[in-house]
Amino acid sequence: MQKDLLRLMRNPSLLPSEKQDLLTHIANQSASMNMPCYIVGGFVRDLLLEKPVKDFDIVVEGDAIKLGEALVKKHGGKLTAHHKFSTAIWFVHENEFVDLITARSEVYEHAGALPTVKPSTIDDDIRRRDFSINAMAVRIDGDHFGELLDPLNGQNDLKEKTVRVLHPHSFIDDPTRIFRAIRYEQRYGFKIEPNALKMISQESFEILSKLSGERIRHEFDLIFAEVNSSKMIFRLGELGALGAFHHQLPELNEKYSELFNSKTPDEFGISNNQVMLGYLLWLLDSPMEMVRSISNRLDFSADLSDAVRAVLHLKNELPTFADFRPSTWTARLDKVPLISIYVLWLVTKEAALKEFLTKWRHVKTNITGDDLIARGIAPGPRYKEILTRLRAAWLDGEVKNQMEEKELLMLLL
Ligand code: CTP
Repeated sequence: MQKDLLRLMRNPSLLPSEKQDLLTHIANQSASMNMPCYIVGGFVRDLLLEKPVKDFDIVVEGDAIKLGEALVKKHGGKLTAHHKFSTAIWFVHENEFVDLITARSEVYEHAGALPTVKPSTIDDDIRRRDFSINAMAVRIDGDHFGELLDPLNGQNDLKEKTVRVLHPHSFIDDPTRIFRAIRYEQRYGFKIEPNALKMISQESFEILSKLSGERIRHEFDLIFAEVNSSKMIFRLGELGALGAFHHQLPELNEKYSELFNSKTPDEFGISNNQVMLGYLLWLLDSPMEMVRSISNRLDFSADLSDAVRAVLHLKNELPTFADFRPSTWTARLDKVPLISIYVLWLVTKEAALKEFLTKWRHVKTNITGDDLIARGIAPGPRYKEILTRLRAAWLDGEVKNQMEEKELLMLLL
């Protein structure tokens, strides 16, 4: 296995060479400080699945802050230390940071609470984790580079495509693990092991229902960032988890499921925000009252809350817009968040919504406020009236060039 892991860790398509260099720095530094040092969690899982790894969490049997300080001294960057937990984040440069953690054990004072931690061994650190597939570590200091630690048989579960909890209280201690289990199940096409599935029960839902909105929303954010997010939402519903934090959380409309991962085409000129897109599609067919209460319960940001409400209003009003001219569409859409318009276009394919996003919203008059001043018109609300009227004329094809625009202005004055 050791050879295999080394081969995977040296494969630049799984671990880019800059990250390999970074690992070497950490490995050398911890070896010189006689600190057993490990990469843990998702890194090991994804590497063994031969999937590209994103970032790595480093766990040391020793003082992670001291290791961080030594790394900064030697290689630069900045360190943010959390003395209470003996952890640090090494900001290597603008786009690269590494979590440095002192190996610890965890005690949950009560179900659903954030755990109390104390320094411990790598073995305890592994055993405090959520699933066997996340409970593996690779040792990297000195001659140990590439040694796999797998006391809970995570490797076998990877082969068997199984999400297995480490103890019967896992979902009670931390019910956000219900979301995590579903994420791995759907992301990798795994099965949640039958006993674990039984543990996703009323008892764990009750604890889930008491978690803060922010913690739950964070889990939804992670889901909507995934490729299979719609399947994950369906699965949460199927297992009864959605009811845990709202008595009537909506089911997802199946016909939208393919839209969750659609990339926004460049011509729309709006940034690709997959997470927001996910929330909007999920809530699109819900009554406004329900959306208001979900947005409060899950502590939505003002932007998200505005966008969700806007798309609902727009969807309800859309049938009445049928005979609108471009200028009337534009007047209605000008203040609506672009993502709300885009989502409604995705599900309705209403041509005017696309026209607005790609063309109408960019239409400007040639004549400006300065021109009106130059013509001796006293500044006031009249300016807005005139310029709005001119823009409408451009939008509706009433004027097609500067000359016609000027002629219309003359008529308006
Ligand atoms: N972890 C855990 N229980 C949680 C959250 C995290 O045991 N509720 C542990 C797992 O060992 C996990 C590690 O902390 O592997 C890092 O967590 P995170 O970064 O959230 O997950 P990744 O494993 O990186 O997985 P993902 O690809 O989903 O981000």
